[in-house]
Amino acid sequence: MKIGIVGTGYVGLVTGTCFAEMGYDVTCVDIDPRKVEMLSQGVPTIFETGLEMLLKRNLREGRLHFTTALEEAAMSCKVLFFALPTPPGGDGEADLSFVEQAARDLATIWSENERSSYCVVVNKSTVPVGTADRVRNIIEESGHESGTLFDVVSNPEFLREGVAIADFMKPERIVIGTSSGEAEAVMRSIYEPFVRQGNPILVMDERSSEMTKYAANSFLATKISFINEIANLCERVGANVDHVRRGIGTDSRIGKLFLYPGVGFGGSCFPKDVNALYRTAVQNDYEFRILDAVLKVNDSQRHRLSRAIIEHFGGSLENRTIAVWGLAFKARTDDVRESPAHYIIRDLLNAGARVQAFDPEAMDTTRAVFGDDIEYGKEPYEVLEGADALAVATEWHEFRRPDFEQVRSLLKTPAIFDGRNLYKPERMKEMGFDYVSIGRPV
Ligand SMILES: NC(=O)c1ccc[n+]([C@@H]2O[C@H](COP(=O)([O-])OP(=O)(O)OC[C@H]3O[C@@H](n4cnc5c(N)ncnc54)[C@H](O)[C@@H]3O)[C@@H](O)[C@H]2O)c1
Repeated sequence: MKIGIVGTGYVGLVTGTCFAEMGYDVTCVDIDPRKVEMLSQGVPTIFETGLEMLLKRNLREGRLHFTTALEEAAMSCKVLFFALPTPPGGDGEADLSFVEQAARDLATIWSENERSSYCVVVNKSTVPVGTADRVRNIIEESGHESGTLFDVVSNPEFLREGVAIADFMKPERIVIGTSSGEAEAVMRSIYEPFVRQGNPILVMDERSSEMTKYAANSFLATKISFINEIANLCERVGANVDHVRRGIGTDSRIGKLFLYPGVGFGGSCFPKDVNALYRTAVQNDYEFRILDAVLKVNDSQRHRLSRAIIEHFGGSLENRTIAVWGLAFKARTDDVRESPAHYIIRDLLNAGARVQAFDPEAMDTTRAVFGDDIEYGKEPYEVLEGADALAVATEWHEFRRPDFEQVRSLLKTPAIFDGRNLYKPERMKEMGFDYVSIGRPV
């Protein structure tokens, strides 16, 4: 079966590559010619574990193609996945302009080239409830002369950056929103090889499927904000959030995951999706009070570490240099969209500090944001030289067991601000560090 992917970013590239790996003939479309050029040469445009090998193999074996021409996919593919950006708009609602433009372009191509065979258009982007109807209307209105038979399906994506290939190849569940039997059959057949172990394909109506994605992300973000609130209270009452986290996480009704306190949630999805769901509620005259609190807690938590650093140095960071370990919004990705590390760096710069930063994969993406406003090291210890303190902002494995003797000898003053609770407070104390972490006794 021929599959087209429209939008070849974090989701589209992984989706296209994994479908090709499963034997499908895949055409990936992107409007960015630089991306298309690089990917056609087998050079990944993002860092994702395992991606490069699959990309190269499927290019070599001829199952994967990259193009800027939507026509190539629009005319020949039985299924077209939209993996397009849905960034936050002015009020926090999802900006659907990329999705709507692609729908109009598709309708025009079908009209001009008279495609008659059936096609399933799939929204894989995270989109507000009602978007499948909207895309269907746009295609019908813009392409009223085309005569192409099509359905629009919702199929939200649940992959996690960093383990995206594994997630896509063995999804815990596939959610498909459609009221068309023909589209359901096509979608079931595409995903069948991915659920051989018995994980479910859940078929529902389009609106429930669209809501499922927002509900999932908002629930996970709520867990994070909840444990951050517990951590902040632990600090005031002398409790240790590490013990509390284990104490509650072992309850199967609660679960261990997403209970790590830290510097707030970031990334391209949680902040955007919680905001968008909140806006959906507002637009429907519903006050979603929990989401309002989740966002407010997160806004405050993002500044938790920088506040502690500024306080430690008496309210100003003039003539101070702070080393920052970690720039990506989480470990195992180069993605810095809404990264807590970037919020911390902005605060440090505003307070007058010089910043020397290191991340194993997110240096280029950070340079695109901060340019020369900060300095970049080639390895973690280099950025410690001459720094007054170390701030740890991302939980990369390589930051978990550093050579503390070396850390102490390189820092001007032995101060560590650990936004991910990577180290043991007692050990830090024994080694003579001033050590601040989240929700644990100093
Ligand atoms: N990144 C994630 O972890 C993740 C996980 C699940 C769902 N999602 C959702 O998936 C969607 C895509 O996210 P992403 O992170 O892959 O975004 P991205 O910004 O990495 O990729 C989007 C791509 O679409 C391209 N594009 C824009 N307009 C186009 C057009 N008209 N035709 C062809 N290409 C076009 C861009 O050049 C870009 O390469 C979003 O709705 C996001 O919320 C993302």
